Amino acid sequence: MILLGIETSCDETGVAVIRDGTVLIDLVSSQIDFHSAYGGVVPEFASRIQLEVIGSLTQQACTDTGIPLTALDGIAVTRGPGLIGSVLVGLNFAKGLAYALDKPLIGVDHVQAHLFSPFIEFDRLSFPYIGLIVSGGHTELYTVKSFTDVVLNGKTIDDAAGEAYDKIAGALGLGYPGGPLIDRIARGDKDAAAAYAGQGEKPYDAVKFPMAMMRKGNYNFSFSGLKTAVSRYMKEHGSPMTQRRLSSIASGFQNAVTGVLVRKTIALARERRIKRIAVSGGVAANAQLREMFMAYRNEFDIYIPSVRLCTDNGSMVGFLGYQLMKLGIKSDISIDAYANNTRIPQRARTSAG
Ligand code: KG4
Ligand code: ZN
Repeated sequence: MILLGIETSCDETGVAVIRDGTVLIDLVSSQIDFHSAYGGVVPEFASRIQLEVIGSLTQQACTDTGIPLTALDGIAVTRGPGLIGSVLVGLNFAKGLAYALDKPLIGVDHVQAHLFSPFIEFDRLSFPYIGLIVSGGHTELYTVKSFTDVVLNGKTIDDAAGEAYDKIAGALGLGYPGGPLIDRIARGDKDAAAAYAGQGEKPYDAVKFPMAMMRKGNYNFSFSGLKTAVSRYMKEHGSPMTQRRLSSIASGFQNAVTGVLVRKTIALARERRIKRIAVSGGVAANAQLREMFMAYRNEFDIYIPSVRLCTDNGSMVGFLGYQLMKLGIKSDISIDAYANNTRIPQRARTSAG
């Protein structure tokens, strides 16, 4: 079974071809260089650029794999949550293809595509597992029982983890996207810190910032208090911003974010007595987060995909589309896009709409 996977929920345009669950090609057209000039994603530009590139990217995927559109068995596409204009570009493109080629359309939830993406790289992964999704738009903790049965155990009540990274990076003058830069600086990359702050070579101590909602059994997240604490600290101690100070703030912030993500995930896995933990989403590219989870590998099987699969891509959409199609699930051509995930109930049946 050969599927096309299309992902346009935020600022990336992803197109992949999947055969029987295996990725044949995965193309991502990034807009980071464009949006970094504005300090963040400009939604109107994002969808316009996606509209320009999605056709040629699909054509390239077909040419490079030697698989013509007519050979496809279905078209999987992200239908939400995301920036609505961006989601619509991918969804309408996919609908057009499905209609013209007379092939099934499979609308896929973006967060669930992240949730199941570790299967693409890890044959050993099996149900049930605890799934942590950490990205620019989402911070959610799930018990994953099957491709059609996931239980949401907790989510952020304000900012997503990646959003907090991007906002703090903006406040520190590091630019967009902030996650990778804070990651490098927090881990002591002096070259990265020197590019943004004055000299000050003494060793630094990470600032101790608070972790929120740490009560036992609470699997929700909150990052707005941390954001306020970092801003207050910067106002009081941030001038002049020496390299040492920048490093101590960045690592203190990163310790607080990664600490809360790891502790809650491990606590949920222990409470549920589930031995497998999978982590995905852009923030799962974070080196410290990956190391902290791997430190638990004696107690749990830890599955964190390669960085390229953690950030937005068409493969994860095609892969979940394939799993749904195998179960006989497909979408009506009239399905709507959705911007946020408030529509997903506490216990969600994965549904192609
Ligand atoms: O999954 P993704 O590509 O897009 C969304 O669905 O949001 O995630 C993007 C987010 C951004 O907020 C970015 O700053 C963050 O992932 N990110 C990181 C790292 N690499 C990307 N955050 C922390 N450390 C990183 N190394
Ligand atoms: Zn994402």
